[in-house]
Amino acid sequence: MEGKLKIDWAKEHMPLLNNIEKEFREKRLLKDTRISIALHLEAKTANLAIALSNGGAEVAITSSNPLTTQDDVADALKEFGIKVFARRGISDKEYIKNCNRVLDIKPHIIIDDGGDLVNLLHTERGDVIRNVIGACEETTTGVERDRLLEKKKLLSFPVIAVNNAKCKHLFDNRYGTGQSAWDGIIRTTNVNIAGKNVVVAGYGWVGKGIAMRAKGFGARVIVTEVDPIKAMEAYMDGFEIMRMKEAAKLGDIFVTATGNTDVIDARYFERMKDGAILANAGHFDVEVKMKDLKKIAKGFREVRKNITEYVLRDGRRLYVLGEGRLVNLACADGHPIEIMDLSFAVQALSVEYLLKNSKNLKAQVYEVPEDLDKNIAEKFLSAYKIKIDRLTKEQINYLTKL
Ligand code: NAD
Ligand code: ADE
Repeated sequence: MEGKLKIDWAKEHMPLLNNIEKEFREKRLLKDTRISIALHLEAKTANLAIALSNGGAEVAITSSNPLTTQDDVADALKEFGIKVFARRGISDKEYIKNCNRVLDIKPHIIIDDGGDLVNLLHTERGDVIRNVIGACEETTTGVERDRLLEKKKLLSFPVIAVNNAKCKHLFDNRYGTGQSAWDGIIRTTNVNIAGKNVVVAGYGWVGKGIAMRAKGFGARVIVTEVDPIKAMEAYMDGFEIMRMKEAAKLGDIFVTATGNTDVIDARYFERMKDGAILANAGHFDVEVKMKDLKKIAKGFREVRKNITEYVLRDGRRLYVLGEGRLVNLACADGHPIEIMDLSFAVQALSVEYLLKNSKNLKAQVYEVPEDLDKNIAEKFLSAYKIKIDRLTKEQINYLTKL
């Protein structure tokens, strides 16, 4: 009941996906298509799965992380005739088992978030890979993993880098995570952000959003980076830049957003203040090195839902949110609905693009076509009744003459 209400509420705020669904349904565009999905399973994701199913597809879904399934939504989704294999809090082994189960339908199309399904197909599921005509990848880390497969000449089918569409990363990675990471941190800890020293590791699209919103809350924001250009950008945006070595001593709240491993490990835990809060917004739970923390801690306990307290030998306490998994999904509901409406519009139209064009595509990673991206932006403006100017004939002539 609760899950169905959540799905309905999200649907009310997804005008783009609703229009795409209508077209898919009326034209039965996805008839005879089997789609396997690994996406964080919450209410917005459920609406994408329903839209694809209503378009005629057979859909099987799992979450793209062991800790990001909302069980009530997963249960409600089964009532829509979708094969659901997901539970919150499962082990890594059970998670892989669920990924395998969604692949058992012998999919034509994969929708992946982080690259686990594509990876599994290439390593263990040779039995079903030949049916796959292509995949759509949701996030930066997944696109990087797919590009590695391509570089090693192992990739077996075309992949559309949904993440790289302007209508995706400029909004989802930046403003989406900017809001939802703080939603997760605030609803989990209930602490005041103003006046706190917030350390953001990584100033890519996700880091930019998190830093920007932290500043809005009145925090003093420190950014750590490894890329000199990004560090300069953060500096010009008004943030303090330093190495993690120095930042570790100052931070009250740390948020990692790098897509990299060992960003905060024993080198830095040892320097942190008593009471420091640690959260991760990057795809995998490798940014805050939990293994190190468990090793140097003399004990740990859950002090509040989704907060684990680690007590170090000298008595200092460090607090990890959502086991170091994506804080916006493990500790909250993920991005705002309207943002995911945009991301999933890109997903749905990329699925349609694959169906129509796969015969002409090679086994490589493709960007989302520019016209498709622009079309979604037009649809967004129209849905929110935002009007923009159009170039006059004279302006076009002026801009195109030599
Ligand atoms: P990005 O490539 O734009 O940015 C990553 C940044 O981290 C780069 O600027 C890089 O120089 C920096 N970096 C790498 N190693 C570092 C280190 N050791 N210390 C400091 N900085 C370091 O990527 P992005 O789009 O911002 O995504 C970042 C991560 O977040 C990825 O794993 C992505 O999949 C994930 N993501 C999560 C969500 C979410 O909902 N939580 C949404 C979108 C993306
Ligand atoms: N909800 C569903 N998928 C999501 C994602 N990749 N990021 C944030 N919220 C989401």
